[in-house]
Amino acid sequence: MDNKVRKTWTSNLGFMLAAAGSAIGLGNIWKFPYIVGANGGGAFVFVYLACILLVGVPVLVAEMFIGHRGQGNTVASYNKLHKSNRFWQLAGWLGLSSAFLILSYYSVIGGWIIDFEVRSLMNDFAGMDEAQIKNILPQIFSDPLRQALFLSIFSLLTVGIVRLGVQKGIEKWNKILMPALVIVLFLLLANCMFLPGFFPALKFLFYPDLSKLNYASILEAIGHAFFTLSVGVGVMVTFGSYLKTGTNFVRMGVTLALVDTFLALLAGIVVFSCVFSFDIEPSVGPTLIFETLPILFSKISGGYFFSVSFFLLVSFTALTSSISILEVVVAYIEETFEIKRNHATLMIAAAFFVVGFLCVLSFNQMNHVTIFGFSFFDFLDKLTSSLFMPISALLTIIFFSWVLPANKGVEAALERVESRVIKNFFIYCAKFITPLLILTILLLGL
Ligand code: TRP
Repeated sequence: MDNKVRKTWTSNLGFMLAAAGSAIGLGNIWKFPYIVGANGGGAFVFVYLACILLVGVPVLVAEMFIGHRGQGNTVASYNKLHKSNRFWQLAGWLGLSSAFLILSYYSVIGGWIIDFEVRSLMNDFAGMDEAQIKNILPQIFSDPLRQALFLSIFSLLTVGIVRLGVQKGIEKWNKILMPALVIVLFLLLANCMFLPGFFPALKFLFYPDLSKLNYASILEAIGHAFFTLSVGVGVMVTFGSYLKTGTNFVRMGVTLALVDTFLALLAGIVVFSCVFSFDIEPSVGPTLIFETLPILFSKISGGYFFSVSFFLLVSFTALTSSISILEVVVAYIEETFEIKRNHATLMIAAAFFVVGFLCVLSFNQMNHVTIFGFSFFDFLDKLTSSLFMPISALLTIIFFSWVLPANKGVEAALERVESRVIKNFFIYCAKFITPLLILTILLLGL
């Protein structure tokens, strides 16, 4: 494989779009608003920004750089950079396993979203009362065939794009879906300005009320910083390996983090403008987009427009993230076993569909089966987000800032950074602050 020419993006912009597509996902539109709501608003947003810079960006830079220097999939890159000690490939293995497992349950959620989009298109919410709308999600849970149908649609879209390859599949579709997503988000935002909840939403998101902040919210912010930037799964290693030339990795990492945060905030403004236009508690939690918003959409004028656009937006963000996760596994199988991409993609798709279907069954036929007290679906989520991903990220940042020699590690990644202050600050974070913070959430998560 080494002497074959490696696939590349057509440009660094292509890479940025694909990486942003991966990072911007359900985490931004579904999770960010509800954890901000639950943690009191503005003050949490500031803590979150600090976590993005101190925890997210260093791991992001480390992953992109390891992929770019290692020129391989997420396992091979670690090995190529440190030929004498194969321990560090464990970071790649954990990422790879997370990618496979996350994909299985992420696609199930992707299926629910397409289901909600279809219901929006058919204007279903308009004719329902609150109790009926609240009943949609439980109804979906109890219907394995309907879920399997939408899981298949979502999986087929993901597989269809990834099998076309890096340039013609992932890059091209991100170039279409990302601008589309931004347009839909701005359309929604423009309409939200006319809702009575618009200014209260701004105040809620940006007014820092420190009294609402506690220790648990800080942990939540670290965990989310990590999730929202898609680190710990090997996506950024795999994507970084398709970069043609070296670049200023810190600038790229910071830009990605800012774009991701900016879109999360815009989504937050949209969601809370709706929430505050009606007397709804901002802290309802995970059901925010599957119950609260459809109820609102059924009541506001222009609700049809809002709900069709909103679920379209969410479908796009879920899809651009899921293709990035699938690519991690496809790149590994394709390169390690030297099989055609098309075959690799279909094989993996079949495997993750089976695991996804088990997730579906864990809501109904198999809901009595638990693993360590969790349903199968929750177990996959906990195993990956509380264990595999933080360990993978911790190994990555230690490998990058302590293990690799200067010409291959953190100093080399900073080659194109001119400011001494930024360099020193980044090295200090990567060596001390980031590993310590990851270790903290890892231990507390256990
Ligand atoms: N970052 C994605 C989001 O905000 C979710 C996610 C976490 C992810 N890890 C990932 C996406 C790995 C792709 C790959 O929704």
